[in-house]
Amino acid sequence: MRGEKMKVNKVKNMDVIQVKDYAEMSKVASDIVLEKLEKIKQPVLGLATGSTPEGLYALMRKAHEEDGISFRDVTTFNLDEYIGLAEENEQSYHYFMNDKLLNHIDIPKHQTHIPDGLATDLEGACASYEKAIKAVGGIDLQLLGLGVNGHIGFNEPGTPVTSRTHIIELDDITRKVNARFFEHESDVPTQAVTMGIGTILEADHILFVVHGEKKADILREVINGEVTKDVPASALQLHPNVTVITDVSL
Ligand code: F6R
Repeated sequence: MRGEKMKVNKVKNMDVIQVKDYAEMSKVASDIVLEKLEKIKQPVLGLATGSTPEGLYALMRKAHEEDGISFRDVTTFNLDEYIGLAEENEQSYHYFMNDKLLNHIDIPKHQTHIPDGLATDLEGACASYEKAIKAVGGIDLQLLGLGVNGHIGFNEPGTPVTSRTHIIELDDITRKVNARFFEHESDVPTQAVTMGIGTILEADHILFVVHGEKKADILREVINGEVTKDVPASALQLHPNVTVITDVSL
């Protein structure tokens, strides 16, 4: 499929690529990521966790293992991390990223960044995260999933559009939905560190992947509704270069 032209519908500011299923969504997303790596000498990728990008990460691993694609010159910044979980904790986003992608490609570990949910000075760590993104010249391609409550990163409803990397109190809905990764719902941390919406909107290009009927209503609201902090992802309407890849019919 790589190199083939996908049908793109313009909806407001967004390029929407309608795909038939999860596999195709992952493939189209992977083609866009790999194309960026080809075009940009020292690409900076913003990465997400969760179920949605797992297929994409599997294809990125495959590109490295089978096609010899190198990630040596790539720098990554993840969107978020739970507060209080160590890197070795299987539910931490550090663990997820190492397990699904970073341990399987040739990216130097010092070029990978994930917010530190164990920092003693969390506020200071948030400010340093912002500085580190600026220091490499900003994010070239930011991958985003969509929460059923409209969150991007862990920017829950009510988060200002200008927000920078910050500490957030997780929504009850988010904790319920993410409980599937933990033994008990009460084990889901109550707080996280997340890149802000303002931080996300500074990326050159946003790749927004949304899968499944359970996200249909919220995705329609994100794209067709008003920009409101009640639906954090609606802020993407303010960005000039968003590509949505989805199997949801809009
Ligand atoms: C994770 C993140 C979240 C997820 C969202 C969707 O780093 O930033 O915004 O993208 O909660 O999660 P899944 O893909 O599990 O449905």
